[in-house]
Amino acid sequence: METVFFTGATGYLGSYALAHFLRETDDRVLALTRAKSADEGREKLWKALQLHMDAREFWALEGRVEVVPGDLSAPGLGLGERWGDVARRADSVLHVAASLNRKSAKACLNHNLRGTLAVIKLAQDAHAAGGLRRFSFVSTSAVAGERDGATLREDQVIDWDLSDYDPYGRTKKFCEHMVHELLADVPVSIFRPSTVMGDTRFPETTQFDMVRAFNTIFQLPAFPVRPDARVDIVNANWVGEALFRLHRDPAGAGQTYHLSAGRHSATARELAEAMREHAGWRVPRMVPRLHSLTAAALDAAASLPQRTTLTYVASLFKVFLPYITYDTVFDSSKAATAIGKEPTRFTDYGPPFAAWAEAQKYRYSYAPLPPRPAKTLEARR
Ligand SMILES: NC(=O)c1ccc[n+]([C@@H]2O[C@H](COP(=O)([O-])OP(=O)(O)OC[C@H]3O[C@@H](n4cnc5c(N)ncnc54)[C@H](OP(=O)(O)O)[C@@H]3O)[C@@H](O)[C@H]2O)c1
Repeated sequence: METVFFTGATGYLGSYALAHFLRETDDRVLALTRAKSADEGREKLWKALQLHMDAREFWALEGRVEVVPGDLSAPGLGLGERWGDVARRADSVLHVAASLNRKSAKACLNHNLRGTLAVIKLAQDAHAAGGLRRFSFVSTSAVAGERDGATLREDQVIDWDLSDYDPYGRTKKFCEHMVHELLADVPVSIFRPSTVMGDTRFPETTQFDMVRAFNTIFQLPAFPVRPDARVDIVNANWVGEALFRLHRDPAGAGQTYHLSAGRHSATARELAEAMREHAGWRVPRMVPRLHSLTAAALDAAASLPQRTTLTYVASLFKVFLPYITYDTVFDSSKAATAIGKEPTRFTDYGPPFAAWAEAQKYRYSYAPLPPRPAKTLEARR
């Protein structure tokens, strides 16, 4: 049994990994979350975990999660006097939290760069206090920057001479660098998910940005992509399981893993045809030569001073455009071999998920947390 200092446990990906920790181990979790109190933090945990379990199971398991109110962008993670206690108790660190705001350099600077530096400092103190078994950092395949026509292995991704997609990719790239430079004596794992969308077991999701962009783009009459360009979209349940297993795997120390569809990636045409078959969408015309023109038009529309549906759709499209127009996929065979399971091709599970998200108007109907059952109350006394 160990104590894991876990950031981002209340997020989409973090909740997948957390459900594994709670169900398959006796580990205790110190969950950093932006909450004013433990009660508010517990509500956030329930919001995240209800995709995975019912309230009865939640109440049976949540006692092993200690909410640590804090903030990546606050001095000392906002932990105040708790810093020393957290550092002494943490046997490992799983740093998942980040800002995914691809448009805001400020948010990425504060949450990703300054936040990760603070988590690294906490890890240094934890290592000095008793030895850290593992520091795992969730990065992103976007650290690869602008490339076309590539299937990249883990060691081929970081190239400091390439342009980055956006501030998000840039700050994550430097976070990886900080982890290697500042935790040289700690067993480190780096995880690089690609575009994570949906679950092979059910169509529900609590995260909608990417699926909304996907649905918008694939229902346009035309868009600027090569029909044979591969799009690396990976299922969240595979990524969550890989995060959990590889964080605990002794062989994972010193390793970087792509958590991506890799060779299971479908092409733009295959994705469009899968949506036509499932939901009757018309297959858009794919016109790659319009790429520069479209990018310029999106830039202009997204920066209009008035926030309208046009600016919103343009921003979404602009953010997602590099992920579908660059034919770049990330070889995930290393992670798949290590956990003994392959990711699933999006065309095999994605269409019902994309259609569900659209039918729900990109909103999840969260259930409120029912009171703690009396039996659990007794067990805790
Ligand atoms: N989803 C994807 O497609 C994808 C792809 C590649 C990489 N990733 C990486 O995977 C990780 C998780 O992404 P996700 O999709 O699960 O994101 P998400 O659903 O937006 O969750 C973000 C998590 O980060 C926490 N967080 C954000 N800002 C924070 C702050 N200032 N202080 C403390 N906690 C903060 C949030 O916690 P609270 O709100 O509770 O504070 C939440 O738990 C990120 O590192 C992301 O870069 C995701």
